[in-house]
Amino acid sequence: METTRLILRRWCEEDIAPFVELNKDPRVMQYYPSTLTSEQSVQMVEDIRTHFEEYGFGLWAVEIKDQTSFAGFIGLAVPQFTAFFTPCIEILWRLATPYWNQGYATEGAHAVLDFGFDECNLKQIVSFTVPSNIASRRVMEKIGMSYIDNFDHPGLPDNDPLQRHVLYSINRSERDGLLPN
Ligand SMILES: CC(C)(COP(=O)(O)OP(=O)(O)OC[C@H]1O[C@@H](n2cnc3c(N)ncnc32)[C@H](O)[C@@H]1OP(=O)(O)O)[C@@H](O)C(=O)NCCC(=O)NCCS
Repeated sequence: METTRLILRRWCEEDIAPFVELNKDPRVMQYYPSTLTSEQSVQMVEDIRTHFEEYGFGLWAVEIKDQTSFAGFIGLAVPQFTAFFTPCIEILWRLATPYWNQGYATEGAHAVLDFGFDECNLKQIVSFTVPSNIASRRVMEKIGMSYIDNFDHPGLPDNDPLQRHVLYSINRSERDGLLPN
């Protein structure tokens, strides 16, 4: 997929080293239980490849034209936990800090939403994060998603400060309402 400033593409071997570094950055992983080891990042790339094979969509590697061949990922995934809104498809993003606050996640997420609705024929796409992840919530809002509810992430233990999450969602008809005529 191509946008004005980005290329969203499948992963290659050269992405692994910068992805390992990305996942070791405490700022990037601030709203996750921990940073990832090299082995965990390598396994995640493998899981992303498997997800693409299984569903035809996944987390695309993000290239920023004229800047970097790998800035992180933006994409769609099938959450593996059970909650009141599952089964569902989520949109998610993770970029390296030098590329934050320049509208890249929003630009890529628009293309990913279009892929989900137009190519995969999805009816609804959700997103979730911890309440304090303002940047991620802003991206959700900027791509037209609406706050739905709070939930406790079942993958995290009771009383974990990251357990409480906010859920956002957008339907195809809502996305269509945002399109220029
Ligand atoms: C979430 C993330 C992908 C956003 O990427 P990005 O390219 O910086 O996003 P954008 O530039 O498109 O939009 C970010 C918005 O958040 C706002 N923002 C960022 N930090 C903020 C803060 N601390 N307080 C208020 N607003 C903030 C920006 O101003 C911008 O909004 P605006 O356009 O209205 O000014 C990036 O911060 C990231 O990778 N974070 C770590 C991983 C992560 O948390 N992923 C999400 C897990 S669900």
